Amino acid sequence: MRHITLEQMKALLADPIFHQIGQAADQLGVDCYVVGGYVRDLFLERPSQDIDCVVVGSGIELAQTLGHSLGRGAHVSVFRHFGTAQLKWHGAEVEFVGARRESYSHDSRKPIVEDGTLEDDLLRRDFTINALAVCLNRDRFGQLIDRFDGLLDLEDGIIATPLDPDTTFSDDPLRMMRCIRFATQLNFQIEDETQQALARNAERIRIISQERIIDELNKIMLSPTPSIGFIELSRCGLLPIILPEIAALEGVEVRNGRAHKDNFYHTLEVLDNVAKASSELWLRWAALLHDVGKPRSKRWENGVGWTFHNHNYIGQKMVAPLFRRMKLPLDERLQYVEKLVGLHMRPIVIADEEVTDSAVRRLLFEAGEDIDDLMVLCEADITSKNQQRKQRFLDNFQLVRQKLADLQARDNYRTWTNPITGEEIMRTFGLAPCRQIGILKQAIKDAIWDSQIPNDHEAARTFMLEKAKEMGLTPVILLE
Ligand code: CTP
Repeated sequence: MRHITLEQMKALLADPIFHQIGQAADQLGVDCYVVGGYVRDLFLERPSQDIDCVVVGSGIELAQTLGHSLGRGAHVSVFRHFGTAQLKWHGAEVEFVGARRESYSHDSRKPIVEDGTLEDDLLRRDFTINALAVCLNRDRFGQLIDRFDGLLDLEDGIIATPLDPDTTFSDDPLRMMRCIRFATQLNFQIEDETQQALARNAERIRIISQERIIDELNKIMLSPTPSIGFIELSRCGLLPIILPEIAALEGVEVRNGRAHKDNFYHTLEVLDNVAKASSELWLRWAALLHDVGKPRSKRWENGVGWTFHNHNYIGQKMVAPLFRRMKLPLDERLQYVEKLVGLHMRPIVIADEEVTDSAVRRLLFEAGEDIDDLMVLCEADITSKNQQRKQRFLDNFQLVRQKLADLQARDNYRTWTNPITGEEIMRTFGLAPCRQIGILKQAIKDAIWDSQIPNDHEAARTFMLEKAKEMGLTPVILLE
């Protein structure tokens, strides 16, 4: 790939739209190039929808000329304020912009923009792999412009900036997130100078809106191996700024020669395990946050060692404030993550003891329709280095899964309701609302869930009458 022939490049630009753009540019006598992410993704063989074109002249004029020549079916939107235009044609979306020069002031992401050459335009882009351009004019169709060895970096798997990285990141600090996002998505290395500049400029991320940060963070989360991104975020100091709760998981404390595990690296292992099993973003968030309550619950107990009692409940309570601050959704997706964080210990506790019907039914009841995701998270959480211990858990886990499947087939405990209502108890014993009704209902529930009696009305009523007798209650209406 280091060298690409003109013929190969022409073959990559097979879509007829590229020739149409070139013709319109020739008609206006301006040079036009396809640039940025589209060209990068052509080489990476990643499907890409949005085509960005740079015109050495007016992007708006070119879009309008092209719209005319394509006729019906083409739709042009003009954004005069930004000097850009968008053309939609047969499912293709092309963005046109004039070549620009940009300069930034220190306290804003808003650049001062002037007309410029193609060179100026490529120089202002974030990474060498995003600064490739291919000419679309007829006499140079398919000619690659690669001023900063972007093709080499694509092949070597390197993220580097065309300019001094301090300038690139300081101009637009969102690019620090983009840098780590591309490294994670593509499994590329961040070039040394660029990496050092990340650390020097990390504080500048504070001028970026939360929405844009979370956009990039979610792309990191959705990558094949999200840990790559979190390790980079931690290394350059961005993590304590954007996700201090996760940064706080890092580190190992030793007392009396006993160390606890590094919960940051454990969390990343769990996150990568979940990512192998599911592409669901919110399940991945649950994995990232499953141990977030550990730093606050950590204690040293003499004779016991390090403990993290109730870290799942403490963690569960930390999810909502974190979602609010990060501008993550505050709807059922938040509730889902809270539920998984709160319950993440449960299957493992069951698997560690005797796997009883009632424990599994309770789990089914509480997890509801998220039971399968909870099981994925819990299995991912078994990261013990002790192979024997790990195998024992995995075997017991199989047992829990088997029991879950059996019970789900037998009775639907996800939507279980008590066959005896409080109303019926009151009628039977002539009671006004009181504590005894709750006690009776709980006893019936326990008896059914522990498989002492069948899950039906008749058995439950017989059981209730016996239990009530023990409690000194007499029915006012005899068996109907
Ligand atoms: N760009 C930049 N700095 C930014 C954002 C974008 O220099 N903060 C440039 C890059 O050259 C990039 C192009 O603008 O390739 C288009 O940006 P965008 O569509 O946001 O990103 P893509 O690189 O296409 O990647 P993705 O679609 O994965 O976000």
